[in-house]
Amino acid sequence: MKRILSGIQPSGTLTLGNYFGALKNWVKIQHEYECMYFIADLHSITVTQAPNNLRENTKKAVMQYIACGLDPEINTIFVQSHVHEHAELAWVLNNSAYMGELSRMTQFKDKSKSQKEDAIKVGLFDYPVLMAADILLYDPDLVPVGQDQRQHLEIARVIARRFNNQYGKEIFKIPDGYIAETGAKIMSLQDPLKKMSKSDANPNGFISLLDDRDTIIKKFKKAVTDSENIVRYSDEQPGIKNLINIYSCVTEKTPKEIEKEFESVGYGNFKMAVGEVVADCLLKIQTKYDELNKPENEGMLRNIYEKGANRAEEIASKKLREVYDTVGFVVR
Ligand code: TRP
Repeated sequence: MKRILSGIQPSGTLTLGNYFGALKNWVKIQHEYECMYFIADLHSITVTQAPNNLRENTKKAVMQYIACGLDPEINTIFVQSHVHEHAELAWVLNNSAYMGELSRMTQFKDKSKSQKEDAIKVGLFDYPVLMAADILLYDPDLVPVGQDQRQHLEIARVIARRFNNQYGKEIFKIPDGYIAETGAKIMSLQDPLKKMSKSDANPNGFISLLDDRDTIIKKFKKAVTDSENIVRYSDEQPGIKNLINIYSCVTEKTPKEIEKEFESVGYGNFKMAVGEVVADCLLKIQTKYDELNKPENEGMLRNIYEKGANRAEEIASKKLREVYDTVGFVVR
């Protein structure tokens, strides 16, 4: 069975973008692949996090993974910091990565551009190397990532090849990206040219998986559109295009069918309709989530990420040992 690996940062509550861009698809493929999904808490501290929020968000993310339909019996679900090999391999790989290539990464440039050179965190700069370690520890065949993470996957492949060449051994498998057949990039409701993000300063820009119906409808009502008032799927109307994509993800109707359905309806009614279907869809997830979130289920939850960490560690420790031996460390 081919192996898949991916992760999401717990830097806030998961959003509709995480669901349609990643989680929904992970659920679909969980029976076809051996899947490893983790919460990237090590990555999240490259942007300042309040400790208690980070702790809560990490636990919530585990529950949300399961509430969205990932079966912990057949998937390995774990927390990145529980498997210390990630940080250790990143240190080794730091010596197979160059300052030049890291400083040219789009995400690094975006996240650091508003900061003074003196105050840019080394962790932010080194982020892609840690991500390479996450991936290369497990020899996955495929790594599902969104468009914005493509460059990071590419540099992981470069680092892997460079390491293999330096030591003359195929230590790391070169993973491929995994492109989902369905699903769409969900954009911010306030700025439809930007990806929907949980770290958006304006909470109206994103739908949290845990937002209640009223909040969801309110946010869709406020969604930024244009003045055409015609529900049409076009790049010239990015706000409406995004809403059509969201409606399409929930209902599995095509944009053409949706244009027809809302032909003579103004934006106001269309926005309401999108809000309603999204609220219905999230209600199912929230019902499961509320169940998992009960105090009596805390032990069960801990067991899930314990079991996940043990399984991950089994694979990761073997790989790290091989790497240590290869670079010439005395292996104990
Ligand atoms: N950087 C990814 C993101 O922000 C999260 C991530 C960390 C990841 N490590 C990974 C994704 C390894 C895939 C594989 O979306």
